[in-house]
Amino acid sequence: MAKIEAYEFRRVLGAFPTGVVIVTGMDDAGQPLAMTVGSFVSVSLDPALVGFLPTKTSSSWAALQNRKGTRFGINVLASDQEDLCRAVASRKQDKLEGFEWELSEHGSPILADSVAFIDCEMHSVSDAGDHDWVMGSVLDLFTLSSSLPLLFFRGGYGSFAPGSMAITTDIPVSVLGQLDLIRPQMERLSAELVAEVSVMTRLEGELVNVGSAGASTRAGRSSRVGIHVPFMPPIGGVFAAFGGPEAEAAWLEQIHPDADPSLREHFEAGLATVRERGYASGIGHEQGAGIEVSARAAFIGKDPAAREKLRAVVHDAAETFNTAQVQADGDYEFHSATAPVFDKDGACLFSMTVWGSDALTSGADVLAIVERLQRAADAASQELKFRSR
Ligand SMILES: Cc1cc2nc3c(=O)[nH]c(=O)nc-3n(C[C@H](O)[C@H](O)[C@H](O)COP(=O)(O)O)c2cc1C
Repeated sequence: MAKIEAYEFRRVLGAFPTGVVIVTGMDDAGQPLAMTVGSFVSVSLDPALVGFLPTKTSSSWAALQNRKGTRFGINVLASDQEDLCRAVASRKQDKLEGFEWELSEHGSPILADSVAFIDCEMHSVSDAGDHDWVMGSVLDLFTLSSSLPLLFFRGGYGSFAPGSMAITTDIPVSVLGQLDLIRPQMERLSAELVAEVSVMTRLEGELVNVGSAGASTRAGRSSRVGIHVPFMPPIGGVFAAFGGPEAEAAWLEQIHPDADPSLREHFEAGLATVRERGYASGIGHEQGAGIEVSARAAFIGKDPAAREKLRAVVHDAAETFNTAQVQADGDYEFHSATAPVFDKDGACLFSMTVWGSDALTSGADVLAIVERLQRAADAASQELKFRSR
């Protein structure tokens, strides 16, 4: 057999993406065992079998195998469980400390907020080179949430971005059809700028990220598809500026009733800027990232407190959007730029956003990005004008 270099083996096989599970069990002393595994696979339906490949040197696998019981659980991780994934992939003791879990009916830890859980009994263990091939008989299985799964690829984490399809079930099919029509523009723009491009639509009081193209430049970040944010100042300015009087009123109505009246004037001035320039902009990494982190927490947890927190974080970012005067010779914490996409009736159906990197961006580059964005958004509007039915 040809000798394969370890580096080359890992590099090439790293080009194959996998989901990530945590195999859990209890040791004989009643302590939880956990191991991060990418080699999980569904094996057989009748009988119901699943399998994974632990390395022979794994201490967790040794403990799981040595104990009296023969049960284990498979927890399919969600894209926001990267911390848990990393903690469990380490060699430390008490890997689940600080993470919520409960025992399944058959005695293995179910990790809170995972996507799915499969309760197993050991079926067989066979030799597989420096690994063991473990199969489990399925005793029970269920899904826990509709979150996107965590994926592992080329040594980094990401999530499933279903092309330009929305994962949210409440988006009308006609909107999804129109999204498909503008997908080439999104993808071209993303490829040209080497940046993530995403498209949002307004659904009642929220903006929903319905599609994205291009990997984020920020390592480990999961897709923005499916994220909801409240339609409130200062974000969503494109819909407020170009969505007609109803949209503008609905947007301004979201200003906190106790806020200083000057805040309303500030947001009205921001809208005037968006109309005049034809796009909305976000400058300020900390505030932008703060909104994104809170939006993910609110979306994933679906917890009212997280939603309130998101509203507060958005409210506090008043200065971040639509205020900066970008000069070609300056340097900016460019967070995002967003342009409107109109449907065949001239209604603002989508917004198209280019996301910045974590670094500073020169003013000249920001202006070039915006120009390209506006061209792509205009071309997308043309597509909808001439091709949508
Ligand atoms: C994404 C990912 C996938 C992994 N997949 C496997 C796997 O399939 N089999 C395995 O033995 N180790 C795998 N590991 C490594 C183990 O999680 C880790 O080395 C082990 O849990 C370390 O502690 P322990 O051996 O003391 O349990 C993976 C790690 C990561 C981050």
